[in-house]
Amino acid sequence: MKYVRFGETGLTVSQFCLGAWHLPGSGVNDEFGIEKVDAETFGRIVRKAYDLGINFVDGANRYHGRMSTADLDHVGNSEKLLGAVLKDYERESWVVATKVRGPMAPWPNGQGLSRKHIMWQIRESLLRLDLDYVDLYQIHWEDNTTTNVETLKALNNLVDRGLVHYLGESNHSPANVVEFMETASRLQIEGFASMQEPYNLLERRVEGETLPVAKKYGMAVMAYVPLAQGVLSGKYLSGVEAGSRASYISQVAGQYLNQETAAAVGGLLEIANEKGITLPQLALAWMLNKQVDLGLTIVPILGITKVAHLEDNVGSLDVRLTGDDMQRLEEIAAGAKLGPQSY
Ligand SMILES: NC(=O)c1ccc[n+]([C@@H]2O[C@H](COP(=O)([O-])OP(=O)(O)OC[C@H]3O[C@@H](n4cnc5c(N)ncnc54)[C@H](OP(=O)(O)O)[C@@H]3O)[C@@H](O)[C@H]2O)c1
Repeated sequence: MKYVRFGETGLTVSQFCLGAWHLPGSGVNDEFGIEKVDAETFGRIVRKAYDLGINFVDGANRYHGRMSTADLDHVGNSEKLLGAVLKDYERESWVVATKVRGPMAPWPNGQGLSRKHIMWQIRESLLRLDLDYVDLYQIHWEDNTTTNVETLKALNNLVDRGLVHYLGESNHSPANVVEFMETASRLQIEGFASMQEPYNLLERRVEGETLPVAKKYGMAVMAYVPLAQGVLSGKYLSGVEAGSRASYISQVAGQYLNQETAAAVGGLLEIANEKGITLPQLALAWMLNKQVDLGLTIVPILGITKVAHLEDNVGSLDVRLTGDDMQRLEEIAAGAKLGPQSY
């Protein structure tokens, strides 16, 4: 494993983070008709990640494990499953990230970035994870009913109390991140160590205005959907297999499954074949190389439902790409046509 410094903090994280949004399915439904997570396979994935040197895991208070948008009957499940696996480890050997913002209860203040909601949800996340603190606490998306000052001061209070070590943001507009960072600087309190954004070879919008903000403020970039939810494995070129993400999340097809994207993915697959590597390895190696091009720390968050996928993806650390390779990949990928976001 390679290790990187997390933005301008002193924290060291593995080059890859393990994501806890979509987890392996068990094939058995719960009383609401939602597929349960296969907790045993998830445990094997976490153990394999640790054995490969991954020390960084990313969850959210809302994640269920089999739902892209969990309803109130299912929120919190992923954190509980993760907490059960982490019990087998020395706490200090893991860097644990989670998020706050989304709906967790139907009542007023059941969601958002107010002091009240944040103070409630950190307690709940720590209970579900069965931990004393989380390393990285991220605000999941914008709450335009709360001022940035209230949110920042509430988050800083958690840092002061040792419940949280670093702060991060996700899915905020570049202008809003700037406003947060300038406010933190003015108040001489902690700002964000990281941003978490959708980024992969097919989806490069954040390169425009968002990543320059990360660079300006020395923030690490956590790249989510690094394989475009599995599309960058090439698996959908031969149809939608039972059990794959697109088979149970219909929006995945709306975002990625069209002729133009299939042609781009097919072209990328040819290059992977030429190089004797897999397409996930090629797509992830592209992102690791972008760190150098962009002068940023980029940590891809891997979504894993099978142990073999994890071993495959970590193999990207050994792939070498030239400047010409990078250009060719980007030209081919530019032919993809993306529909509305499915996350
Ligand atoms: N901040 C946010 O708003 C936000 C939003 C989304 C995600 N995230 C974070 O980002 C993480 C990753 O997102 P993601 O799961 O969509 O990532 P992803 O890497 O783009 O997609 C993961 C899916 O790709 C497939 N896959 C992975 N490796 C493969 C391989 N070697 N060969 C074939 N297929 C492979 C698997 O699909 P199958 O299951 O179909 O096999 C897997 O579930 C999440 O867990 C979460 O922590 C954050």
